[in-house]
Amino acid sequence: MKFFIDTANLAQIKEANELGILDGVTTNPSLMAREGIAGEAAIQQHYKTICELVEGDISAEVLGTTFDSIVAEGKVLAELHPNIVVKVPMIKDGIKAIKWFTDNGIRTNCTLIFSAGQAILAAKAGATYVSPFIGRIDDSGWDGMQLIQQLSNIFTIQHYKTEILAASIRNVNHIIMAAEMGAHVCTCPLEPILGLLKHPLTDIGLAKFLDDSKKMQ
Ligand code: G3P
Repeated sequence: MKFFIDTANLAQIKEANELGILDGVTTNPSLMAREGIAGEAAIQQHYKTICELVEGDISAEVLGTTFDSIVAEGKVLAELHPNIVVKVPMIKDGIKAIKWFTDNGIRTNCTLIFSAGQAILAAKAGATYVSPFIGRIDDSGWDGMQLIQQLSNIFTIQHYKTEILAASIRNVNHIIMAAEMGAHVCTCPLEPILGLLKHPLTDIGLAKFLDDSKKMQ
């Protein structure tokens, strides 16, 4: 399973990248706004900076909601760097645009996926990735991981090339379960990525080793 970081924060992207396990970055308009990035030029420069920091796929989301505006924006984003993947919302014009991008050699990430039906449509349109939002499904009282399992089964049976990108990750358990259920990618904030490092028995064990090592000196 590939690891993407889900942030537009450059310090966090650098920290995750220094671990040596990062395969890409996803962003969205909320994450960009959180960093105070505003205006077309600043947004485009921020994407370029991220592309220079990380060797891997970088999702850049369009703001348009009509076919023409999504295609126009996506073309500009895709021109910024070869690693840019155009992130498109799961709406009717979004699906039409994903098919256009597929036919024109531009890779896409279909975002805001909350059902298997939506993911099937995006895969049929040729999306490179589909992004089911696990945490938001859990928040609304449903089971986000169940959707990952369902997509994993469907995509295997149907031999879809589209990769399942588990998004809206809130904790380490989401990451582990996404891996267990066959997600191709997990995009996570820095905290749950670092959370994977932790286990109290590791801390206790290391303290004992270090303590005992003093007796050898
Ligand atoms: O990038 C999309 C997704 O990961 C958003 O997560 O935490 O806002 O539901 P969240």
